[in-house]
Amino acid sequence: MKDKILVTGGTGYIGSHTTVELQQAGYDVVIIDNLSNSNREVLDGIEAITGRRPAFVEGDCTDIETLRRLFKEHPGIKGIINFAASKAVGESVHKPLLYYRNNLDTLINLLELMPEAGVKGIVFSSSCTVYGEPDVNPIDETAPIKKATSPYGNTKQISEEIIMDYVASGAPIKSIILRYFNPIGAHPSALIGELPVGVPQNLVPYLTQTAAGIREQLTVFGNDYNTPDGSCIRDYIDVNDLARAHVTAMSRMLDNADTDPVEIFNLGTGRGVSVLELIEAFESATGVKVPYKIGARREGDIEKIWAQPTKANEVLGWTAEVPLTETMRNAWNWQQKLGK
Ligand code: WQD
Repeated sequence: MKDKILVTGGTGYIGSHTTVELQQAGYDVVIIDNLSNSNREVLDGIEAITGRRPAFVEGDCTDIETLRRLFKEHPGIKGIINFAASKAVGESVHKPLLYYRNNLDTLINLLELMPEAGVKGIVFSSSCTVYGEPDVNPIDETAPIKKATSPYGNTKQISEEIIMDYVASGAPIKSIILRYFNPIGAHPSALIGELPVGVPQNLVPYLTQTAAGIREQLTVFGNDYNTPDGSCIRDYIDVNDLARAHVTAMSRMLDNADTDPVEIFNLGTGRGVSVLELIEAFESATGVKVPYKIGARREGDIEKIWAQPTKANEVLGWTAEVPLTETMRNAWNWQQKLGK
């Protein structure tokens, strides 16, 4: 058995897929989640896939005593992957203090407790949002960090700075910061996947719900952008590929003594895909038509952003491999499993 890892937000979308990959790589996983944006049944899905039910603590990482108790009840945790955060861009504009308190207090509590708990490293879930609208694409880790366009994006920028300042102060820990592009899809088993609460804000869950007849029609938010087909371009990364990147990062951090104390990696495929191209990919992969219309642009949307993943490929030793058509099939299988 490899090291014991704490996954905060581990019953969430990326957290649950990462827990599966960690367990299948031989790690022992403890999850803490306040279930504010997920549910306990996700643990059943993880166990059905891996045959091992992760230890689970229902709790809020903004309460330092909850975390202190967890480290006492689950001794020997060597690494943390911190997913626990509020992540709805639009909501963050209306509830900034909730986002700053939840996302920053969580991280600060974890960092403060790591030395006394003997935790060596933390993988932080960041986002390409920190780059804002890139001047050029593809975008690598040296691209300038622009003023955040939402409190959510600002919490990611501030979190990265907190980690770097804490390590620079001499804290005996390491960190790997992973800047995700657009995670999509579901586990091929259709036993875990994305569980959007209410009306999905993100493209793929709204698309699959439309294909399932739950939503009447998908609205493409604008086709008058300066892109080949006029719709926005993103770097859509399969959630299973993304999960595997966290396992690679954890192993690099814990097993490799001579890496820098803080490393940053862009996690993307390196391919830009437009909204209309993604709809086409779904339809050809599943044979299911998606009724859509062209609507107005969405406030705050970036026109185009996709990753230069060379550093992750060559330094981290990770490459996105799942073809978009397979990701679309997995997303559709999961949606059908969820039913109407
Ligand atoms: C993708 C594209 C929309 C819905 C956000 C966060 C980012 C990360 C991922 C947390 C855009 C278009 C969408 C719809 C559409 N979240 N779209 N119709 O905005 O790139 O990224 O989610 O880490 O931080 O910013 O993702 O899926 O919302 O949108 O046309 O019903 O799909 O305009 O071009 P986004 P998204």
